[in-house]
Amino acid sequence: MRGRSEADALPLEAPLDLLDPSFVCDPYTIYRRLRTHDPVHRSRNGGWILTRHRDIVSALGDPSLGNAPSRYSVVAPRNRGRYVCANVAQNILPFLDKPEHVRPRRILSRVLSTHMKDNPLDIAQIARQLLDPQLARRQMDAIADFGTPLSAEVMCRMLGIPAPDRDRMLEYSHYFFFLFAPIPSDQIRQKADEALTAFRGYFADLVQERRRKPQADLISLLLSAEDEGERLSDCQLVDNCMLLFSDGVENVDAGIANILLALGRHPAEMKRLRDAPELIANAVAEGLRYDSPAQLIARVARDDVEIGGQTIKRDSTVFLALGSANRDPAVFADPDRFNISRNTSPLLSFGKGGHSCIGASLVRSQSVEAVRSLLQTTTVVEVDQDGLEWLPRVGHRWLKTLPIRLFPS
Ligand code: HEM
Repeated sequence: MRGRSEADALPLEAPLDLLDPSFVCDPYTIYRRLRTHDPVHRSRNGGWILTRHRDIVSALGDPSLGNAPSRYSVVAPRNRGRYVCANVAQNILPFLDKPEHVRPRRILSRVLSTHMKDNPLDIAQIARQLLDPQLARRQMDAIADFGTPLSAEVMCRMLGIPAPDRDRMLEYSHYFFFLFAPIPSDQIRQKADEALTAFRGYFADLVQERRRKPQADLISLLLSAEDEGERLSDCQLVDNCMLLFSDGVENVDAGIANILLALGRHPAEMKRLRDAPELIANAVAEGLRYDSPAQLIARVARDDVEIGGQTIKRDSTVFLALGSANRDPAVFADPDRFNISRNTSPLLSFGKGGHSCIGASLVRSQSVEAVRSLLQTTTVVEVDQDGLEWLPRVGHRWLKTLPIRLFPS
């Protein structure tokens, strides 16, 4: 039998299926083989997948690769009158190209950072309140009992969503992410359409309420925000609020879980962090580099393009494997090592350039407070690594649950 490093050095025997259970469970071994032998790979799902940091950075700045959905996609413009998900896609930042993308992006990112500056939340206090009952139980699911309620509380407070509505919002936002991957069946498309209709209805009502009676929340700020004298339309406002809530919860709770898993799998690094708490921000960045919740982002070829000697036909989907770029040895020394004091730049977990994540600083501060509160209230945190299940989602690395044992201090 071949040793691990020998097998890693081999090309793939067949085109990659992005939902293959072994890839979902451990994408990094496959990325390594692709980076070495086939860095511009035609996957079985039809799209191309780029795995080298250099190619991904160049693709992120390449105007021949756009964000508007491929005409073969369920969310393609031709389906706008038929499917709610296609209609939502036409309004939200990730699917817009210039010039339509410019104004809403400027408004949303400006409002988000102004709100964070003017209305800072005590995230540490929210985290501590959530941890208290779990410490008494001496165990928790780091996602359902901690990461999800923490990020949901933060997004609810920022958007002005009343606490009793939180669970309903979480249910809707679960379907939101189907917009970003090939929708697996018409049944799921139908369920996503129903959930998005309800999600839209909820925010449309809230927008009307805030128009009548503004508060110190994101929606009220967005209602009055202008860029060169123009505002968001109601449709843009509602659909991008769904985006903010969903990104703000599902990627964030998954990110916190991935960081905790990395620390749990590397007890020496966890101990180093306990001994040197000033490393916390870097440890969080390293956790997001090592195992990013956002693994693949999609672009669509606007024309026939050549990348790495391969001709990619117009309208083909090109997946940029951020998770692979973050482990590229051409950029990060000893990239498969989790090292909380390494230089994590140029990390690609938040993308780069015109569409890069506008929530990155919120993610960093939330993750820092989550991990810090956990370490400050315990002497030991043990992650149960048996039977971990990764959700089969194209593009996202999300654990189903992350059981941990807590030894309160
Ligand atoms: C760990 C958590 C998160 C990760 C890993 C993440 C990652 C990303 C990535 C990779 C992109 C796409 C970049 C591209 O296509 O070039 C993105 C876009 C975006 N993210 Fe995040 N994100 C996270 C959390 C958040 C949060 C908390 C918010 C806001 C509340 C947010 C709001 C957005 C928005 C609005 C976009 C679209 C930007 C555009 O297309 O112009 N994200 N994010």
